[in-house]
Amino acid sequence: MRLEVEITGKTFKSAAGGMHEVLAPVKFALQSGEVGVLIGPSGCGKSTMLRIILGLDRDFDGHVARPPEARIGMVFQEPRLLPWRSVEQNVRLAAPDVTDAKLSELFKILELEAHRSHFPGELSLGLARRVALARAFAVEPDLLVLDEPLASLDDALAGRLRDEIATLVASRSVMTLLVTHSLDDAIRLGDRLFFLSPRPARIVQELPIEIPRAERSEAELARIRAKLAALPLESK
Ligand SMILES: Nc1ncnc2c1ncn2[C@@H]1O[C@H](COP(=O)(O)OP(=O)(O)OP(=O)(O)O)[C@@H](O)[C@H]1O
Ligand SMILES: [Mg+2]
Repeated sequence: MRLEVEITGKTFKSAAGGMHEVLAPVKFALQSGEVGVLIGPSGCGKSTMLRIILGLDRDFDGHVARPPEARIGMVFQEPRLLPWRSVEQNVRLAAPDVTDAKLSELFKILELEAHRSHFPGELSLGLARRVALARAFAVEPDLLVLDEPLASLDDALAGRLRDEIATLVASRSVMTLLVTHSLDDAIRLGDRLFFLSPRPARIVQELPIEIPRAERSEAELARIRAKLAALPLESK
């Protein structure tokens, strides 16, 4: 499977009638098993790009080719849970085929077991984000799109979830697109990093990480960090 993104532009019309250019030409492709990471300043157009890639916003110039049969798992920047459904129902509604065993495993990994019957209004933001992750994983996606999924989690939990994302990606050859402001998440999870300019976003630098994820030792990560620090990038 392959995702091909060729956006030539995206403009919002403001309520006052003005034009707000959000995306400049952006072109890249992802293969199965690959993790692409989008890194860029706040407001540059990352979430807008993800919505276009998912087909939720069709009002843009260009073309996105998603594999038509791909199952899609998505974690939006705000968890977007159905407020009148419990945690468990939220996940089951998105993934009707999920088995009880799979659901239990996910809730265990994401430390959500005690919250199965809670409603979204009873959750902290970090808990709600974990439910959103459970929902995306339960779908067993071919294309996983994550918009800052580890924001507002403590370091230890964020680290465990990052490992879970890596395991999922490795086990099912998922194509993953991750938006993050964390360089550490980017270099631990990504295969290719796309550094974006301020709005309108364009790719100012593409950085492949050649070493397979599972083989990135702390020493290798330090080397990659040093390489990044030497790049003249505004969006770091
Ligand atoms: N529906 C909309 N109508 C008009 N303007 C919008 C709309 N959605 C986003 N924008 C504008 O598009 C620009 C990019 O927004 P977007 O949410 O894509 O940024 P982002 O890179 O995801 O930022 P952040 O890192 O803060 O999440 C912003 O200037 C925003 O105000
Ligand atoms: Mg955003």
